[in-house]
Amino acid sequence: MNIQTTASTLADELKAHTGRFTDKEFDWNAFPSNAGFDELARAQMRYIGAGGSPKVGDTSTLKPDHFTLSLIYKEPGKYAACHSHEIEESFLIIDGTLIVGWEKDGEVVEVNLGPKDMILNAREIGHGFRVDGVEPVLMSISVDVGKPLPPVYHYHPKDHAPELARTFGAQPGKTMKFDRNGAHPLQKLMADYVVRHHEQPTIWEDAGFTRKVYVGAGGIGNDTCRKEMWGVPSRVGVKPFVRPVEDAVLVLEGSLTVGWEENGETVEVELGPRDLVKTPAGRKHWFRNDSAAPATVWTVIGQAEEDGVVYAAA
Ligand SMILES: [Fe+2]
Repeated sequence: MNIQTTASTLADELKAHTGRFTDKEFDWNAFPSNAGFDELARAQMRYIGAGGSPKVGDTSTLKPDHFTLSLIYKEPGKYAACHSHEIEESFLIIDGTLIVGWEKDGEVVEVNLGPKDMILNAREIGHGFRVDGVEPVLMSISVDVGKPLPPVYHYHPKDHAPELARTFGAQPGKTMKFDRNGAHPLQKLMADYVVRHHEQPTIWEDAGFTRKVYVGAGGIGNDTCRKEMWGVPSRVGVKPFVRPVEDAVLVLEGSLTVGWEENGETVEVELGPRDLVKTPAGRKHWFRNDSAAPATVWTVIGQAEEDGVVYAAA
């Protein structure tokens, strides 16, 4: 059964495009290549598409158009083996700190990312990650294509010594720290793909909310999707707007009401932390914060080009 095509009313359709954190489960068996390797254990919660998992038939997951979106949970001491994709993939940290390593020719650059920091893993670049901190990591991963190809592993513990797999392929002495001013070509390359929340300018929209652009004009240049962090103060909302592609809002903190309109009919849904709505291309939609606390919202938009949307206060 496809829950998206059986929806009959606008309210049903909005419900079918809403991913509730409490309706979903973390899947500890999403990545067959990790089976039998306890040090690689991670759990995936799928919202849009399957991401890097082959579990594309999951009917509780929204159908992807231009991007996938999932949460990944990983505990201290665990890592993900170095691999690459044909398409870009972003890691947005929600809780904890995550070491992400990029490998080229046996050398590795490692960056330590904290909450609301993001890395866009470049096409075909070997990347892995590891939890060295004391708390588990929760992050949101988006792959910028609806159905990615399986990852290509560069240093998987089934083929390489565990110590080498854990360092993403770096022999002792071959790991460098991330440095925006570093001279090494791999440091320079990674510098173009790391977004620190505190380094991005805060854009105050006339409509009364803030945007930090992570991917798109003012952030990382990209030809697939745009990604932004929004801050929506209490009692702020915007008038209906329409995009030529789909977008998704994932609430990180606070609560946000999302509304849809079609043929004069309107429906709304209130989202809490880790709830998501995916709005299809062409659908009139809006958002509003009815609560006393501000909302922090992760937004993914299914095309790189600016879509001309001007947000107007409701
Ligand atoms: Fe990846």
